[in-house]
Amino acid sequence: MTLETFVNLLDFEAPAQEILTQMVYGYYASGADDEITLYENRAAFARLRLRPRVLRGVATRDMRTTLLGREYAAPVMIAPMALQRMAHPDGELAVTRAAAARGIVNVLSTMSSTSLEDVAAVPNAPLWFQLYVYKDRAVVRDMVQRAEAAGYQALVLTVDTPLLGKREADIRNAFSVPAGIKAANLKDTYLSQIDAAQDDSALARYWREILREGGLTWEDVDWLASITKMPLLLKGILRGDDAALAHAHGAQGVIVSNHGGRQLDTSPAAIDVLEEVVQAVDGKVEVLLDGGVRRGTDVLKALALGAKAVLVGRPILWALAVGGEAGVAHALDILLHEIDLNMALCGCRSLADVTRDLVG
Ligand code: GLV
Repeated sequence: MTLETFVNLLDFEAPAQEILTQMVYGYYASGADDEITLYENRAAFARLRLRPRVLRGVATRDMRTTLLGREYAAPVMIAPMALQRMAHPDGELAVTRAAAARGIVNVLSTMSSTSLEDVAAVPNAPLWFQLYVYKDRAVVRDMVQRAEAAGYQALVLTVDTPLLGKREADIRNAFSVPAGIKAANLKDTYLSQIDAAQDDSALARYWREILREGGLTWEDVDWLASITKMPLLLKGILRGDDAALAHAHGAQGVIVSNHGGRQLDTSPAAIDVLEEVVQAVDGKVEVLLDGGVRRGTDVLKALALGAKAVLVGRPILWALAVGGEAGVAHALDILLHEIDLNMALCGCRSLADVTRDLVG
């Protein structure tokens, strides 16, 4: 099977499922409960219609964007996803290399299976760092300082995971992290080893026992904003009022997200609440979105409704499993090509032309 046979982002999943163990595939693929939100993320994009403008002279297109004061090559980033060496031995390094070669940001997970310093050693990699908060604040402060020192450009606090959602595949498979793979950002063995499951999922237990997510409050956001020079974004916002609070507590961005349908099932599709959030923050913070982005048209819909960029998740893992760095590179090229093509078809020469009226 050569990579040329993969024509769109959806094509990577079935071959990846063949390669991965049932336990690893189940962990990556599953949503919470009945997976209604997981389904809705894509269905909601499919319900929206794009209304193209014609005769705009679109012989050349430019998808560069400016975000938090920096210019990026495209309005697309790689979503934070845990333990990528479960998908391929090259894990986060392969994903980062493929993204860096295209000027695309990789948002590295706290639960990375490669240390944040090793990832930052990839030349010219634009990187953001996703944060989960440990019970011990010193561990958090140290990780934030290390990310800052290593050149990460922004800090993304996930706020929708006080406990892990009920992913039934993980319960049925008694999910545990394969031998030899650990949370490499944590120096302490107790924190880095996500041990064998005792009852349901080893990761669910990690959340209950080791992280402080359930106890997080808006004061923790104030604290985080105070200990870093990196701009802070909150990921997992689904309401305008929470987005306004994020601004009031020092965040410079929000990521409208339901965690890929993995947390509260029956929460709305990210794209369906994007406009409420955009209106609530009224340009005071940057708004990004993840959840269900599979097509260039999805990206244009999100941008038209007010997102500055979108994050792509699972397809990157499937491409990683299938082809390592080359697989991720191919997946990104497919998506970038679709964005460029559909900009032309919508009559857009730059992202400034991707205006609200394109979605009807
Ligand atoms: C971790 O963030 C997960 O969604 O499994």
